[in-house]
Amino acid sequence: MIVVYFSRKGSNKYLAKKISTCLSCESEEIRPWLNVFLLFLMNIHLGIRPLKNNIKEYDTVILSGPVWMGKLIPPLRCFIKKYFDDINQLIFVTCCGSTDAKKDEKFGHGLVFKEVESILPGKCVFCQSFPIGLVLPDNQKENADAFMKTHLNDENFKGEIQERFENFISRISEINMQQ
Ligand SMILES: Cc1cc2nc3c(=O)[nH]c(=O)nc-3n(C[C@H](O)[C@H](O)[C@H](O)COP(=O)(O)O)c2cc1C
Repeated sequence: MIVVYFSRKGSNKYLAKKISTCLSCESEEIRPWLNVFLLFLMNIHLGIRPLKNNIKEYDTVILSGPVWMGKLIPPLRCFIKKYFDDINQLIFVTCCGSTDAKKDEKFGHGLVFKEVESILPGKCVFCQSFPIGLVLPDNQKENADAFMKTHLNDENFKGEIQERFENFISRISEINMQQ
């Protein structure tokens, strides 16, 4: 098992590192050739640098990255395209802004999940969201300004998100045991 991640502001990196620590597995960052965010806004995608690890050697890839504008972002899409034949099975996770209640709206992570499932037919085992609102107080869960400024760290990774994380790890351990 390997965790592959892209993160601009650190939350998906934090999540990826936490998963790899918990599962005692490798992790590797997806590194685009150029400043991805600017290019994304200009709708230009130049691809990603080759990974150091051989993806083919891993039974499962856990892919982690943010959602921007309701889209599967270019570095994640490039990873899936470039390593399609090498990926045996994939679990997609995201620390995103959209709540579970709004997952099927225009900017919701649900649309991204559907896309990952459709471009990896039979290979995507499941998708899991970790909305940043899980670490915010109730009166700020829907506050766009608050969630854009909030990033996962050791201080705020507790309560609801910790519980969701533990369930996620148990689910992966069950899948591992079945193999
Ligand atoms: C330009 C921009 C657009 C975003 N659009 C969405 C969106 O459409 N849906 C969503 O769920 N989150 C959206 N977000 C929130 C990010 O997914 C969220 O902040 C994520 O945790 C950032 O991950 P990172 O810290 O690993 O970069 C957006 C963030 C930015 C900066």
